[in-house]
Amino acid sequence: IPYINEACWDDLAHKTVIVIDVLRATSTIVTALAHGCEAIYPVETVLEAKQLKQEHPSWLTGGERSCKKIPGFNFGNSPFEYLDDQFAGYPIILTTTNGTRAIRKAHRACTILIASLLNGRACASEAAALNKDIVLLCSGTQDVFSFEDGICAGQIIEELYGAVQGKDVELHIDDFGLSMLYAFRHIQPGMTETLLHCSNGKRLTKLGFREDVTYCSQMNLIQLVPIVVGDRITALPVR
Ligand code: MLT
Repeated sequence: IPYINEACWDDLAHKTVIVIDVLRATSTIVTALAHGCEAIYPVETVLEAKQLKQEHPSWLTGGERSCKKIPGFNFGNSPFEYLDDQFAGYPIILTTTNGTRAIRKAHRACTILIASLLNGRACASEAAALNKDIVLLCSGTQDVFSFEDGICAGQIIEELYGAVQGKDVELHIDDFGLSMLYAFRHIQPGMTETLLHCSNGKRLTKLGFREDVTYCSQMNLIQLVPIVVGDRITALPVR
């Protein structure tokens, strides 16, 4: 498991990369696609988002800077804003401080999947079926490791063990991955409390987004796996 400032970007060509930003970008992406959104266009900067919007005036815009909605955008980065079908048929251009940046940075990978605690099991099962080396890319916050992303990586590793059980496959997990697996096993019964205690959880709570943290702490609520193809994210068809 590398995190964003450690990932070896040139080395991804034959690998499956799973991008994780539990609080909140990848939780929001999974939620939006599970509620009727047909495609999300992740971009790194607000300027890029505005340019894309100019080219496609009917598309919607979402995202945050400093966790707050960007002025003039349709939505912020709270998963609760993406829970109804208001955007069915309208692609969303999304820019967030860390999550969409990590997604764009992974573009050299053979396959890019999007994970959060909400869809960890579904994502692990798809990644296992692809039968390639897997890189769990923790977005972190401003190039610094975030605990909740590491915990989600631990959840995915746990689910990968389940996905390959009974098959002739041996998992080789690096030491950081093992640390996250054991941390996940330890804190799993108190996931919500743990997320509320980590620095992003505290920051979001202070800004009035406590319910977002609680929502994002739910494991395997959604059986959908977002995949990045070209410049857009869509839901993988269910197997
Ligand atoms: C990000 O991508 O930086 C985060 O999702 C920030 C946030 O929680 O809004």
